[in-house]
Amino acid sequence: MNFDLKKLVRPNIEILKAYSSAKEEYTGDAKILLDANENSLGSPLTKWYNRYPDPYQKKVKEKLAFIKQIKAEQIFIGNGSDECIDVLYRTFCEPGKDNIIICPPTYPMFEVSANINNIAIQVAPLLPNFQLNVAHIEQLVNAQTKIIWICSPNNPTGNSIDRIDIETILNHFNGLVVIDEAYINFSTQKSFAQSLIDYPNLVVLQTLSKAWGLAGLRVGMCFADETIIQYMNKVKPPYNINMVSQELVLTALEEVGQVNDMIQHLVDMRKALAEVIASMPYVQEVYPSDANFLLVKIPKANQLYQYLLTKGIAVRDRSSLENCADSLRITIGTEQENTQLVEEMANWIDFAFSNG
Ligand SMILES: Cc1ncc(COP(=O)(O)O)c(C=O)c1O
Repeated sequence: MNFDLKKLVRPNIEILKAYSSAKEEYTGDAKILLDANENSLGSPLTKWYNRYPDPYQKKVKEKLAFIKQIKAEQIFIGNGSDECIDVLYRTFCEPGKDNIIICPPTYPMFEVSANINNIAIQVAPLLPNFQLNVAHIEQLVNAQTKIIWICSPNNPTGNSIDRIDIETILNHFNGLVVIDEAYINFSTQKSFAQSLIDYPNLVVLQTLSKAWGLAGLRVGMCFADETIIQYMNKVKPPYNINMVSQELVLTALEEVGQVNDMIQHLVDMRKALAEVIASMPYVQEVYPSDANFLLVKIPKANQLYQYLLTKGIAVRDRSSLENCADSLRITIGTEQENTQLVEEMANWIDFAFSNG
């Protein structure tokens, strides 16, 4: 591997003079804040919401650094990991010139965000066992390939990607390898976050939207070498994580034990639900899952999807995706929701097969 970050970053970002917010221009504690054109009289809500939030979320990063056992300087926080994906494109990929590689079926935002940023997309579909086609990826790499996106555990298939394959790519590719670990807490696989020291080209995405149950706060994390994070900090909007989210996340991050209990409960329910669904006569396959959802192959999947909607149950029809014909993605719910789902899936047998 011949990794040179300066060659990867967009030339306009390399020379960009980043926005400097009022809060960054002094150190120490000023008591009278007349520097940021805030409203010093207060707000209709709790008073301190009249102030801008910490642009670099220092307290949240310190806490995350402790939990993840990495350095705070190796962390970028985005308005959901979706913002991290967008900032990676805007930092490293030149529109109309560079390209990236995706391995579908996978998380659609890698593609959507590339299209928004006018970055060419090269496609190396997953093999039928939903693992990487490493030889195909290697064939596609050219001088303008900036990022290879890997999602592990993968959405929508649920499986973890073979670690040796990911390491092969990390060892041979001169661009960034982004591993989206949104579902890592539901897996027994080791996160790549602890491998940053080994790979200067490694970027790991995680989120508080899944295991932590905080999708509404919009907090996603990007872990990488601090030189990568510094470039991303230049590109992000100055106050991208609002004060309410920062405060609530700090409180939530105290509750690692409670979150671990939820994870264990969801994993137990995943196992139970997978067994019940697999035992239904019409179900062709329940794919093994390391995530908080199951991908299930069913004849007439869209009819079942529509039927469940009439019963007030929303699942996701993923049938249009590569290698996912007739497949529904079902998120693990509460015990009661899972029971209702199973009851309606059982009722559907009579309904569907008597209607031809
Ligand atoms: C693989 C993957 N990455 C990222 C996200 C988005 O995460 P966030 O809510 O942090 O934007 C999702 C959401 O479904 C996902 O499945």
